[in-house]
Amino acid sequence: MNAPTAGAPALPASAQSAGIRILGIESSCDETGVALVETRPGAVPALLAHALHSQIDMHQAYGGVVPELASRDHIRRVVPLARQVLAEAGAQLSSVDAIAYTRGPGLAGALLVGAGVAAALGLALGKPIIGIHHLEGHLLSPFLSADPPEFPFIALLVSGGHTQLMRVDGVGRYELLGETVDDAAGEAFDKSAKLLGLGYPGGPALARLAETGDPRAFDLPRPLLHSGNLDFSFAGLKTAVRTQVSKLGQSPCEQQRIDLAASTQAAIVDVLVAKSLAALKQTGLKRLVVAGGVGANRRLREQLSTQCSRRGVRVHYPELALCTDNGAMIALAAALRLQTGREQPRRDYAFDVVPRWDLASL
Ligand code: KG4
Ligand code: ZN
Repeated sequence: MNAPTAGAPALPASAQSAGIRILGIESSCDETGVALVETRPGAVPALLAHALHSQIDMHQAYGGVVPELASRDHIRRVVPLARQVLAEAGAQLSSVDAIAYTRGPGLAGALLVGAGVAAALGLALGKPIIGIHHLEGHLLSPFLSADPPEFPFIALLVSGGHTQLMRVDGVGRYELLGETVDDAAGEAFDKSAKLLGLGYPGGPALARLAETGDPRAFDLPRPLLHSGNLDFSFAGLKTAVRTQVSKLGQSPCEQQRIDLAASTQAAIVDVLVAKSLAALKQTGLKRLVVAGGVGANRRLREQLSTQCSRRGVRVHYPELALCTDNGAMIALAAALRLQTGREQPRRDYAFDVVPRWDLASL
């Protein structure tokens, strides 16, 4: 595998003026996502079709993602999903102008599946391929919503592997303001859920259990809440949850579990909200984009909406179905990078993947 190089000039001018159709492939972790996105000059990008296969059922038995099983399943799913997307969009493969894939960060073997399929398709069709940063996909995903943001904005990226606050001045113009020094917010949800005897992935399960609970029942820490910077830390919270679970003993009553779930969720959400508000205050910006799987959390959305509307800040979310991993955000990020001249599509088909990749380095 070679590092990507700037290759042949981008798309034909006719494709640019008529709009660009991009097939996006996401395979960085435990979801295979494929989508077809079309952009036209001066118009909001359109999602023509998307399809997703979640591996949750397969990994559930192991309590977490098994990388080798993930890679093998991506291989099985990606081509049928691409066929499904094209059929739903009523589009021919030959009408695709470029193929985008997640280049990183993520599981190396899983990423290689999407990258390999994208390169093979590109070569067969004579179309360029574009490697996309997974988190850039997440943070641009609200541009596919009915209420797209305008630049500049603060982005709160909260996924299973990342918790970051970024200042976003345009496509490819990302400044890291703060990030977690240990566990990610999604990881805090997942690990606490495991301690509470809930399945994988824990975030949605813990949020469901917490619905009727008392968020003040347990006094859990809000790490780095008053640290004076925009960094996060969630490892101590997990330890506090473990201590509470062992205090409850072997057979806690259901109400105690519900209250502990609600208190855990409140602790995570409080920190995410406080740091987001601090980032907005520090930069003077009045727009916040929330992206990544934890962005689907109802309490987080409610608290952010309340706090932000008090301060005259607009909050933008991706459509709920596009909060977690999907191919649409990868196709969209590629389309926006092409439109803004940030990307030179390559036709050398020498692909690589970057399992650890800093978004601010783009
Ligand atoms: O962005 P994503 O789908 O994958 C990564 O790139 O990591 O995020 C997955 C994370 C998991 O930790 C999952 O538990 C969490 O998002 N998550 C939630 C909710 N839905 C997904 N956490 C809290 N509440 C939810 N409703
Ligand atoms: Zn993700």
